[in-house]
Amino acid sequence: MRAETIATYPIAGALGAEVSGIDLARPLSNPETEAIRQALWNHKVIFFRSQSLSPKGLLRVAGIFGGIYRVPFVRARDDFPDIIDIVKEAEDDNKYNFGGVWHSDATFEACPPMGSVLYCLESPPHGGDTLFVNMEAAYAALSDVMKTTLDGMVALHSAERNYGSGGYFTDDKKQGVSMSIEPSAEGDKLMEHPVVRTHPETCNKGLFINPIYTMRFKGMPTQESQPILNFLYNHAVRPEFQCRFGWTTGALAIWDNRCTMHFSINDYAGYRRHMNRVTIAGDRPR
Ligand code: SIN
Repeated sequence: MRAETIATYPIAGALGAEVSGIDLARPLSNPETEAIRQALWNHKVIFFRSQSLSPKGLLRVAGIFGGIYRVPFVRARDDFPDIIDIVKEAEDDNKYNFGGVWHSDATFEACPPMGSVLYCLESPPHGGDTLFVNMEAAYAALSDVMKTTLDGMVALHSAERNYGSGGYFTDDKKQGVSMSIEPSAEGDKLMEHPVVRTHPETCNKGLFINPIYTMRFKGMPTQESQPILNFLYNHAVRPEFQCRFGWTTGALAIWDNRCTMHFSINDYAGYRRHMNRVTIAGDRPR
């Protein structure tokens, strides 16, 4: 199949496109690889339906964008340590939902992931959609004064709230039936990142903060930082900056973690949802 057969269909005004005309299980030509990369830079999150991928095939798709980031704290598949099983069992009911808070992946790292590939092995009969927001559109819609203020600011990020020594998952009742999260003191470390990040491919500026991992602004205590952060989160998740993807078994998403946040909706109690995620290594935010 040639790259000319690939077509992209935007699913919302702000971000997100479905890509058709490609079987990701086949070895891809250079033009096909380039078309997929370009689609991601253009749409920030791209979706493919009806794919049939082995774990090795999934790792190969992630390899289009670079090396693999090995996810800490979340126990990976025994057979493929670079793939995490994201599974909510029917018995997990409404108690447990991985990814159910707006976030960008692993911004507690010095070099947070460039992106992720999420593949649906089993979708519930309804619900379990994932929401995404465009953090560049959110930044562009701020006033000039707010943009200039934020441009010079630095935020402190940490895995503390989820995976730290006193984090959410230290309570065993918060663990899912089939997933295992291993919090540790490693999660308590702080990492500095610019609040406004310039995308290395497009040079667009976007907000680079999120409610799970951003703790506060550098040089400002929590009580001063949090109201500003709350304003920015409420602003960023406005419906016009969002898209929503309804999963079907065999569907696959690739998102650019540098300019988006995502949120997994927990509305399918009593049903199983099973995904595999491969996370792509990134660089130092600037
Ligand atoms: C994640 O946050 O990586 C999981 C998203 C999802 O399962 O919808």
